[in-house]
Amino acid sequence: MNVQFAKKPVRSTVLSVMGGMLLLAAAGLANAGISTTKHNLGSGAPGGNNKFDGTAEICVFCHTPHAAASNNPPLWNKALPTGSYNLYDTINSSTIDGEVLQPNAAGNMSVSIACLSCHDGSQAMNNFINAPGSGGYNAAGANMAGTWTSGSGTNPVDVTTGQLAARTATTGVANLGSDLRDDHPIGIRYCGGGPTQASPTTACTDGDFFAPSNSVIGGQTVFWVDTGGAGRQKTDLILYNRTFTAGVGPSVECASCHDPHTTTSLFLRLSNANSALCLTCHNK
Ligand code: HEC
Ligand code: HEC
Ligand code: HEC
Ligand code: HEC
Repeated sequence: MNVQFAKKPVRSTVLSVMGGMLLLAAAGLANAGISTTKHNLGSGAPGGNNKFDGTAEICVFCHTPHAAASNNPPLWNKALPTGSYNLYDTINSSTIDGEVLQPNAAGNMSVSIACLSCHDGSQAMNNFINAPGSGGYNAAGANMAGTWTSGSGTNPVDVTTGQLAARTATTGVANLGSDLRDDHPIGIRYCGGGPTQASPTTACTDGDFFAPSNSVIGGQTVFWVDTGGAGRQKTDLILYNRTFTAGVGPSVECASCHDPHTTTSLFLRLSNANSALCLTCHNK
């Protein structure tokens, strides 16, 4: 007892030093994530590509801790596009089975509108509701002062407007525009229907799809298409609850396939080598 007691201060010093090292290591890991990707648009943007010199913050281009656009998409710091989109739906595909919803349907908004608030090319990427620092609030969103630079010819930011430039062979596909008929469907009810919150069955109406997993988290039934591991993980294909005619159920959105924070190629939740991503949902 006495020996242990005498050693205690020494041990706690060692522990606190180790704790500090662990914290530093953890902070290093956290900073090595999104900051090294194309979703770091601040003055520390990797390679100076798509760089805005007005702030060195990273999250602020998308999130704010206070006064966000709405609680869905999450704590969003940008004005949300209000126009309607031309969607990939039953008008242009006679083989589609699921109901399709607008990304910004009134009272039934999807997380995809967050991505589209940059990727439809309609507004500056330095448009903020709550600019960095004290004050700087504008409910409708306002462009923060600063200068955009495009590191090389392959980077699609229009440096005068701060918007994603129209797609060309050099700028790439980042600007999807508002005509999404040439893009994989979003706002689409998964597997032709079947599962809803009220009836979280794992059976699909359309057998061309693998059945989703579900779980109750925070009192809500949530859905995902499993890629392995226990429970829902960020590498699973997350399905987002939206209100369809049949009830609240799983929808495929941009962030079902992409995680905007990862360091994986093309921000994919799962590598698409051998079309593994496609084949997680589509039973082909
Ligand atoms: C380029 C835009 C963008 C940036 C930059 C960004 N996020 Fe996000 N974030 C999103 C979008 C879109 C979602 C919703 C999609 C989803 O479910 O991941 C989201 C969701 C989240 C979530 C909830 C879902 C989850 O994955 O845990 C957290 C927490 C989060 N972001 C934290 C952060 C933090 C912290 C930063 C800065 C280090 C950051 N984000 C930077 C776009 C961004
Ligand atoms: C998160 C699940 C998911 C992933 C991953 C996914 N899809 Fe889909 N895909 C769907 C859903 C749901 C539909 C709507 C089909 C329906 O309702 O009939 C769809 C529709 C399509 C269609 C149009 C079908 C039609 O009838 O017009 C094609 C083509 C397609 N996907 C190809 C792909 C390819 C290629 C990949 C990989 C790059 C992929 N999908 C990844 C869920 C997914
Ligand atoms: C604040 C603006 C902004 C938001 C919001 C945003 N992005 Fe991006 N995203 C960019 C920029 C800028 C690039 C870089 C384009 C380039 O260099 O080709 C990019 C690149 C990408 C790329 C291509 C990465 C590569 O390696 O070529 C993907 C995929 C992507 N974003 C998906 C998403 C998705 C999905 C969301 C929502 C979950 C989202 N982004 C939200 C600004 C944004
Ligand atoms: C069903 C899965 C799926 C959905 C839903 C999806 N994407 Fe993608 N996305 C992919 C895949 C796979 C790639 C890589 C394509 C390739 O290798 O050319 C990609 C590539 C991209 C790129 C890079 C394009 C390029 O070639 O430079 C951007 C930007 C992007 N997605 C944004 C989005 C946005 C924004 C949404 C929602 C409006 C979205 N994605 C919805 C699967 C998806």
